[in-house]
Amino acid sequence: MARNKIALIGAGQIGGTLAHLAGLKELGDIVLFDIAEGIPQGKALDIAESSPVDGFDAKLVGTNGYEAIAGADVVIVTAGVPRKPGMSRDDLLEINLKVMEQVGAGIKAHAPDAFVICITNPLDAMVWALQKFSGLPTNKVVGMAGVLDSARFRYFLAEEFGVSVEDVTAFVLGGHGDTMVPLTRYSTVAGIPLPDLIKMGWCTKERLEEIVQRTRDGGAEIVGLLKTGSAFYAPAASAIAMAESYLKDKKRVLPCAAHLDGQYGLTNTYVGVPTVIGAGGIERVIEIDLNSDEKAMFDKSVASVEGLVDACKKIQPALA
Ligand code: APR
Repeated sequence: MARNKIALIGAGQIGGTLAHLAGLKELGDIVLFDIAEGIPQGKALDIAESSPVDGFDAKLVGTNGYEAIAGADVVIVTAGVPRKPGMSRDDLLEINLKVMEQVGAGIKAHAPDAFVICITNPLDAMVWALQKFSGLPTNKVVGMAGVLDSARFRYFLAEEFGVSVEDVTAFVLGGHGDTMVPLTRYSTVAGIPLPDLIKMGWCTKERLEEIVQRTRDGGAEIVGLLKTGSAFYAPAASAIAMAESYLKDKKRVLPCAAHLDGQYGLTNTYVGVPTVIGAGGIERVIEIDLNSDEKAMFDKSVASVEGLVDACKKIQPALA
């Protein structure tokens, strides 16, 4: 059986980490594409030279031509610019929208059957635009944000409670921005919801609110520390989990920026919701019950995403 093919559009910090992880996990052969000459070629060769040491078989190719992504099973998009300290994800909109137009055309021409995972920020607006530019089916184009935001929440909770990250599950809904909605009552330690843990004296309501806020600011915290770019290890790991669920038809339940067609009362919108990812791409969007507070937070988050999508339509009228 032929190996799967994974195309990475953008061979920067996240792209390089994606290539390394995909190799280590033997998810398939890997093509690294970038407009910068030498970077994808250099990273592909460097990672390939690590394969005898780590014992994985994968062909790695670096390229500046879209033809090389032909027939890819999965395409992961990180092309664009990351933020610098003081910038919000939304500040990247105009420049990254132009990048999505080029990338969408490249995918449409060379990998129209792929499952496409977008990571470029501002995420919810960029994945929406990428789906339009590429013309791929909406169930095959998805944004990576919820897995990362939930992972940050899980990590902070595990640290707080002194328990394994493996036993903490967490749920984050909404846009990948300051308005994201960490859902505490759907987040648990070994199945015990966080509100129950407060009753059990594991933590106070106020402390939990601080952790929620740290989760919302998780990306900015890393940008503030790195100063020269944004997070890349955890974003790459999160997208790999999504790619693996698709390639292996695992049907994992993962929060992603997915296209909504009536769910949550929204149409033609991409926003973070729980989904099932399997061989059919986004096989299901799970509609959970939101109480009035959660609904208010979710609506605010959706409004902020819609504002960005409107900004995209103004910049590129073809999207309207
Ligand atoms: N086509 C292909 N690649 C491009 C294009 C383009 N039109 N424009 C820029 N790139 C490449 C750059 O040459 C660079 O190698 O995209 C890569 C981006 O890599 P980094 O600058 O290292 O950024 P990274 O940290 O990987 O983040 C990428 O993901 O999380 C988001 O906000 C982040 O939007 C940013 C993206």
